[in-house]
Amino acid sequence: MTTEKLKKTIDDNFCYRPDFKYTHDNPYHEKLEVFDSFVLRDEEAEVNVGRWNDLFKNEMPLEVEIGTGYGEFMLEYCQKYPNVNFIGLDHRFKRSFALAKKLDKLEHRNFRYLRARGERLEFMFAENEVQSVFYFFPDPWPKTRHHKKRLFQKPFLNACHKVLKPGGTLFVKTDHDGYFEWMLAQLAGDERFEVLLSSRDLRREHPEHFLSLFTTKFEKIFLSQGTLIKSLVLRKR
Ligand SMILES: C[S@@+](CC[C@H](N)C(=O)[O-])C[C@H]1O[C@@H](n2cnc3c(N)ncnc32)[C@H](O)[C@@H]1O
Repeated sequence: MTTEKLKKTIDDNFCYRPDFKYTHDNPYHEKLEVFDSFVLRDEEAEVNVGRWNDLFKNEMPLEVEIGTGYGEFMLEYCQKYPNVNFIGLDHRFKRSFALAKKLDKLEHRNFRYLRARGERLEFMFAENEVQSVFYFFPDPWPKTRHHKKRLFQKPFLNACHKVLKPGGTLFVKTDHDGYFEWMLAQLAGDERFEVLLSSRDLRREHPEHFLSLFTTKFEKIFLSQGTLIKSLVLRKR
């Protein structure tokens, strides 16, 4: 492999490497400090690997949402289910700050918020530590040359498999046909997960499923445009 090609491969996978370091100069990084009772920034989350229940001071199941965005799901779910320890994470600064302001007003304090990247899953959570992973409306990266940026691919599936408890579940929703087919292709032959649900029209085929009962901000937009919601529910064997 040429040096140039090698460098590119390293860059593409850099976020998954143990020696990865967050770098940025975003003013919202500092601003998020006001919420340090429940917000962890960058590497701060990785200190708690394997110790999240100690942090929450209870043994309740740990549920993780990647790409919380404006937080509709997190805000509603963690208050509806106060008997879980909920962790939401997103790497966008301004969105994180906007969501932290809302989280700060919640009654049940059964959550933490991470300004972090989904690629760091296995550095933030230990083997068999997580009961559920939620991943709703990921950025689709529609151009072929950007497909490698899609989070849902082998390294991510490996990380999900590692951090989920046996029987733990990965819940996914997407608006994007191409990304959904991509997900199915990534899963082909992967015996580590049992497919509990695979739908190209979640709302029509599974109207009573809890995934149909929560609607995220982006999902509202897609539904208003008549886009079918595609969904996967995968259980770690
Ligand atoms: C299309 S939005 C969906 C937000 C929300 N889940 C919803 O359905 O309304 C995708 C979100 O995922 C976040 N995101 C994308 N890639 C990510 C990554 N690698 N790690 C963490 N968050 C990521 C983006 O910042 C954005 O807020």
